[in-house]
Amino acid sequence: MSRLGVNVDHVATIRQARGGSEPDPVTAAALAELAGADGITIHLREDRRHIQDRDVMLMRRTIQTRLNLEMAATEEMVGIALKVVPESVTLVPEKRQELTTEGGLDVVRHQQALAPQIELLRQAGIMVSLFVDPDVEQIKACARVKADYIEIHTGAYCEAKGARQAEELTKIEQAVTIGGKLGLGVNAGHGLNYQNVTAVARLKGIDEFNIGHSIISRAVFVGMERAVRDMLELLRGAC
Ligand code: PXP
Repeated sequence: MSRLGVNVDHVATIRQARGGSEPDPVTAAALAELAGADGITIHLREDRRHIQDRDVMLMRRTIQTRLNLEMAATEEMVGIALKVVPESVTLVPEKRQELTTEGGLDVVRHQQALAPQIELLRQAGIMVSLFVDPDVEQIKACARVKADYIEIHTGAYCEAKGARQAEELTKIEQAVTIGGKLGLGVNAGHGLNYQNVTAVARLKGIDEFNIGHSIISRAVFVGMERAVRDMLELLRGAC
């Protein structure tokens, strides 16, 4: 069965709306783990719009499963990752010029800059994942820069309707196959919810799903533990 990484960024989004101390994403991470999450994902953005440095430090000390730090491939962020040493780092685009047409990291274009950063992180014992569109050339570039994992951007699939959705699912399936053949671990995420996750979870070869917004949205009404358990049930039911 694929693992579930729960992204708790949006708990921090609510906290930052008032600039106070609640709700605390550190508590959300602990509850997600109690409910069976296999890992916790947080995105420390350059503008600190939701997760703060304090959250990263506290989660590093309290998380019992695995911490996946999403970040831009900048000198500042690589420095933070080397201090925090999360189990994994997922490099994501934050600026428009780093994006491919659909929204993943443009590894083909930035491979020269990415390769040394990936090497530094890997030397520190951190697994490196690159968030890319389900695009053959991007995935080949991920192997060239020696990433451990790709995270396939599922946003286009999640937004597509009708026959277009089936086409996007096929692209994801092909991306999983290519990633596997190139020796890359394969994760997936972005936009997945309780309605659309099953079809992707039925594909063989996806190691981990990173899901945030839909779980936090459900948690507002039913609580964090139930929201995480509901998602785990869908992932288990799909295999
Ligand atoms: N994976 C990556 C790389 C992301 O940037 C995000 C969004 O922060 C997610 C997964 C989770 O997306 P969502 O919040 O739509 O589930």
